Amino acid sequence: MDNFRYYAPTEVIFGKNAEEKTGETAAKYGKRALLVYGKGSVVKSGLLDKVKGSLKDAGIEYKDFGGAKPNPTLAHAEDGIKEALEFGSDLIIGIGGGSAIDTAKAIAHGAANPDKNLWEMWTRKVPFKSSLPTGAVLTIAAAGSEMSDSAVLTNEEIGKKAGINTDLNRCRFAIMDPEYGSTLPKEQIAAGVADIMMHTMERYFIPGVRCDVTDEIAEGLLRAVIKNGAAAVKDPTDTEAMSEIFWASSLSHNNLTECGRGKDFSVHKLGHALSAKYDVTHGASLSAVWGSWAGALYKDAPGRFERFAKKVWSVTEEGEAAALSGINKTVEFFRSIGMPVSLSELGIKASDEDYRALSLDATMQDTVKLSRIRPLDAKEVEKIYRMAE
Ligand code: NZQ
Ligand code: ZN
Repeated sequence: MDNFRYYAPTEVIFGKNAEEKTGETAAKYGKRALLVYGKGSVVKSGLLDKVKGSLKDAGIEYKDFGGAKPNPTLAHAEDGIKEALEFGSDLIIGIGGGSAIDTAKAIAHGAANPDKNLWEMWTRKVPFKSSLPTGAVLTIAAAGSEMSDSAVLTNEEIGKKAGINTDLNRCRFAIMDPEYGSTLPKEQIAAGVADIMMHTMERYFIPGVRCDVTDEIAEGLLRAVIKNGAAAVKDPTDTEAMSEIFWASSLSHNNLTECGRGKDFSVHKLGHALSAKYDVTHGASLSAVWGSWAGALYKDAPGRFERFAKKVWSVTEEGEAAALSGINKTVEFFRSIGMPVSLSELGIKASDEDYRALSLDATMQDTVKLSRIRPLDAKEVEKIYRMAE
């Protein structure tokens, strides 16, 4: 087992009517909250009003800042920083999924550092050491932003989607009432399920380290997500299934499943390049390339892929046959819940030039090698994209 630091400080309030506790929880961190949300699902479901009622009861002033779009943008976050500064916010609350919560995190960093350029901070050209406290009220099991140390923005001007990892991204609290997941479109639930699985798998396929406890947690989490994810896609009003995937979304990305092994996130790098260029749903950008990523790498980590197949999919074959079965079953699962498993199913028809541009973006102009299984340069990454055609 490798040395590790595990830090997951977010206070989680989970279950039916959890949103009624937003005010008393938020009151520990601030008095003037900017409420950051997306394109209106939280208005329609009545969640925003419930959150406002709870904040009012706790004596917290608030201001709305809606409009975050899936694959949220830098420009929108910059508008939010102005709103937060004008309002004198001392707390930023994201209400929705990863897009609203990541926008809230970006606004918090920008509002605490008004003299700095947000993209320069985001890309670590300019260091920053402070942020405003953030909280999350979650409506979709997917990104895991509610407990993660990460946030992702798209800079539309330069066509780049980039994430930043810092403890300053940790929400102080996360409110989760899985019943709000019942209004989700099925394709969003499925994309979320793919993302949750990927957050676990991106930490699992790293060879050469023994971590029995972490492995068992990851495998159990994956089995639970596969079973309950399929049930939630079939019936979004199945609150039991929705509860399981809500909790899994947080645990799969709060670093629990990397303790002693670390993380890879090369599939996410492939996916972010696709989302930056084609604005595709995050979970779909991952399921579309995972099969070809696994196909390119399983021979370099045969033990990991074999164990995955046996423990997650109860495959009875041995060796390479087991590894291949596990990959096929995963791809079949994505397909069964309606997720794209190729670029064409994602609606992308890439030219030679597009493949080249995608692989250069994913490898930061061929300066960074992807994957801890085997270092992949831009040429190899291009092959994986092409295999996913
Ligand atoms: O905008 P609204 O109207 O709220 O609609 C959203 C949006 O259209 C809708 N939705 C969410 N909850 C709903 C609902 N519709 C009906 N009922 C509900 N209960 O679903 C759509 C997707 O929302 P979004 O927030 O984009 O989803 P998700 O949570 O998948 O977040 C995706 C973003 O998070 C980033 C992704 O790259 C992407 O930008 N990620 C963030 C991470 C992090 N901060 O740790 C890690 C992830 O790997 C990921 O990269
Ligand atoms: Zn993800």
